[in-house]
Amino acid sequence: MNQDAMKKAAAEAALAYVQPGMIVGIGTGSTANHFIDLLAGIKHKVEATVASSIASAQRLESHGIRVLDLNEAGQLSLYVDGADESNEHLHLVKGGGGALTREKIVAGASDKFVCIADDTKLVKTLGKFPLPIEVIPMAQALVAREMVKLGGNPVLRAGFTTDNGNIILDVHGLEITNPVEMENRLNQIPGVVTNGLFAIRPADVLILGGANGVRTLV
Ligand code: A5P
Repeated sequence: MNQDAMKKAAAEAALAYVQPGMIVGIGTGSTANHFIDLLAGIKHKVEATVASSIASAQRLESHGIRVLDLNEAGQLSLYVDGADESNEHLHLVKGGGGALTREKIVAGASDKFVCIADDTKLVKTLGKFPLPIEVIPMAQALVAREMVKLGGNPVLRAGFTTDNGNIILDVHGLEITNPVEMENRLNQIPGVVTNGLFAIRPADVLILGGANGVRTLV
């Protein structure tokens, strides 16, 4: 099984969490795209969805799946999204696709966060995947200096603008041994819109696709 097939297997297993009449929060990225395509097969079961990016909203709508604004939808029962890394506590690094801010908002508005990934994403310590940070453009240099003080090497994601009109700094070289503390610390830096750590609100369920099938961590 290749990595993409493992992502698809995890997405398929997440369908079991979709209950009739739900409004489902939908993530962004290649694993979430598998989930969207599979959800199309049971679209009459769901009331509607809320998307964490323009790209996911467009993909959902292309399948004829209703997409609501989060303010219209209210609290969601379920959010399904991928991740770039997870530790065994289901603390995540997200934002490889640049949608971290809306992902964190939709996750924060959801009762249950089911994370879907291939099993290469499970790591002992977070930080090998460069940590994405969405930054207000005028704060780029300030945030970069603060990242260097924390031992990281911030790299501007060239030619990329988020759905919110901001830039992304990908911070290399961080060894994140205390993800909750790091997430809180990064949130204090002026100009940081969102950091890609999902530790204060981790996933509730992690479904990992692997060579020998799917396993679930809770
Ligand atoms: C999008 O901004 C990210 O948070 C994705 O969830 C993450 O990058 C995982 O992407 P893949 O599913 O494409 O691996």
